[in-house]
Parts: sequence; structure tokens; C-alpha cells
Amino acid sequence: MDVKRAKITAVGHYLPEHRLTNHDLEKMVDTNDEWIRTRTGIEERRILKDKDKATAFMSAEAAKEALESKGVSPEEIDLIIVGTVTPDYLFPSTACLVQEKIGATNAFAFDLSAACSGFLYALSTGAMYIESGRAKKVLIIGADKMSSILDFTDRSTCILFGDGAGAVLLEESEDETGIIDYIHHSEGDTNCSLYQPAGGSLNPASKETVENMEHFVRQDGRSVFKKATMGMADVSLEIMEKNKLDPEDVAWLVPHQANLRIIDATARRMGLSNEKVMININKYGNTTAGTIPLCLYDWKEQLNYGENIILAAFGGGFTWGATYLKWGIK
Ligand code: ACO
Repeated sequence: MDVKRAKITAVGHYLPEHRLTNHDLEKMVDTNDEWIRTRTGIEERRILKDKDKATAFMSAEAAKEALESKGVSPEEIDLIIVGTVTPDYLFPSTACLVQEKIGATNAFAFDLSAACSGFLYALSTGAMYIESGRAKKVLIIGADKMSSILDFTDRSTCILFGDGAGAVLLEESEDETGIIDYIHHSEGDTNCSLYQPAGGSLNPASKETVENMEHFVRQDGRSVFKKATMGMADVSLEIMEKNKLDPEDVAWLVPHQANLRIIDATARRMGLSNEKVMININKYGNTTAGTIPLCLYDWKEQLNYGENIILAAFGGGFTWGATYLKWGIK
């Protein structure tokens, strides 16, 4: 069988206008700007304030921007995958809502749950549809409205996250550029180090779950930090070694933006200097599945055709992984 390669041919994004700064958070919980900046690298994050808007809205806006930038009509899309842990509803999927919002009448659509690795898992899934010839145009979206599952009285979590969405269009590559390799890992987090306790089938919503604040993110930051640092650095090195890439061969690292210290440790392990690392955690915080496509969007003018790029993520689940691609937009 003729093996095809998928490549990113367009990028779009959506960020809410409202900025929640560290100084704003100082007025809400017992924290301070210096602690947040030095421990995480975050200065501000965006919050979607509109009561009637959520992840599907942000995803659709990001998707529309990607399609418009390439002059592709929504009817041409075969498949939409949304990586998210903050779907508008448990069902129907956010991807189906996006399909309707953008008018992608010929697409089928589904969500993928892999927390902060959601975009990378969705990217490789979408790439396989292109590689097999089953789809020609695929929209991959990473989006989260983390403010909807944050307890703004819990200083250990509410300072970390923000809202946002990024989208890429995948099409068949006609040359050597595109997605070359991906490695994914999972390890069931039975200790519940990073999770949302209620709202699923184990602990459905009840008066007690609401009173106990169980519909919000809970994280044992210290243990997740250790696992994330090791996981993201190891898998990034693993994909370099597997593809015989030396540090000088890699033009960019696009890391998940959970903590600047985790990003620095990953870059050090890969032997990359700071100027090859995309960092926007200072502006947006951790947007979960949104971080990697938001980086690609912010850096798109600086990316050169044919450059080697490594994407890397670690998230709840646990899930982690890395993707190696050659940038294919001229
Ligand atoms: N402001 C001030 N002090 C704080 C705050 C705050 N916002 N939060 C915690 N502290 C205090 C703690 O109470 C603790 O005080 P103590 O020593 O008196 O007990 C002290 O600061 C240190 O707390 P730690 O939790 O050890 O701080 P740490 O340096 O580990 O930083 C952080 C915490 C930022 C959460 C870090 O652990 C982290 O980044 N973890 C990993 C996050 C991650 O990668 N998650 C996975 C992706 S997310 C996803 O998948 C949805």
C-alpha cells in the first residue's frame, strides 16, 4: 500500500480577551506574583467570561481562522478531532458541536480525552487517517476552558490554568515535510494525583459532590511535577534518538506549557539552547490541550519550511508523548 504522510498546512487560534493577572489573583487567594512567576513562569492567563460560550465556541473560532488562512471551505473537511477535558457537555461531543458551528457538513467528528497530551494524541490519530488515505482534510483542535473546572479558592490549582484553543489543518504531504514520527505513553494514575473527582459515572453530580467542591481540578503538584519533568524530558530524548537527531538538527521544541521549570529541564535534556524553545506560558498559563497549537500559532511567522520540530507534552491520565515533524508551510 502506498504510505502517505500528513502535514500541518494551516494554523488558527482563539484566546478570550479577559486577562487574569497574578496581581488579580493576589486579591482572590493567599498568593503573590513573585511566587507564581518563580515557581511556574506564569504572569497572566486568559479567561472566557461570556456565560453562553465554552470550549466548542473557542474551538470553532480557531478552526475558522485555520480554514480561512488556507482558503479551505468547511465542506471539504472529512474529520474533526477535539482534544479536551472541558467539553461543553459530557455528550454530545464538542467536536460535533464544532462541526455544526463551522458548517463542516461532510465531516465526522469526535473528542479525545488525554488532558494536556490531548493535542498530540489527536494529531497522531488524525495523521493516521491521512496516512491510510481514509481522509484528505482533517481538523485537529486542542481546546480547554479550564476556568470552568477551577476552584478559585484553591491557590494550588487556580493560579496555573487559563482558557484558549488552537487548531491545525492536516492534509497529505507531497514532499518530505510533515509528521514523521510520534511516541505516546500512558500510565493509569490510580492515586488520583491529577483529576476531577466528580461528574463522571463513578461520582455523579449530587448535593454532596457540589458542597465538597469535587467538580474542580485536584492536583498533588509535587508528585505530578516529578513525573512530568521526567516523562517529558525522557520522551523528547527518545524521539530524537529514534530518529537520529542531534541537538543541532532540531530547530524548535514546542513543549506543553505547564511549568517553565519542566520546559527548561526538557530543553536541557535535549541539549537545546533557550532560543529554540517556544514559551508563552507567561501570557496564557496552562491551557491544557491548547498549549501546543497556541505556540505553533504564535511562532508561525518564524517557522521555516523543512525545519525539524519536536512537540512534547505531559498530562493527566497520566499521558505523555512527543511528535517529530518537518514544518511544511512555505
Ligand atoms: N502561592 C503561594 N504559595 C503557594 C501556592 C501559591 N499559589 N501554591 C502552593 N503554595 C505553597 C505550598 O502550600 C507550599 O507551602 P509549604 O512548603 O508551607 O507546604 C509551598 O508553596 C510549596 O508548594 P509545592 O506544591 O511544593 O510547590 P512546587 O514548587 O511544587 O510548585 C506547582 C507547585 C507549580 C503546582 C508544581 O508542582 C507543578 O508545576 N506541578 C506540575 C504541574 C503539571 O505539570 N501538571 C500536568 C499537566 S496539567 C494537566 O494535565 C491538566
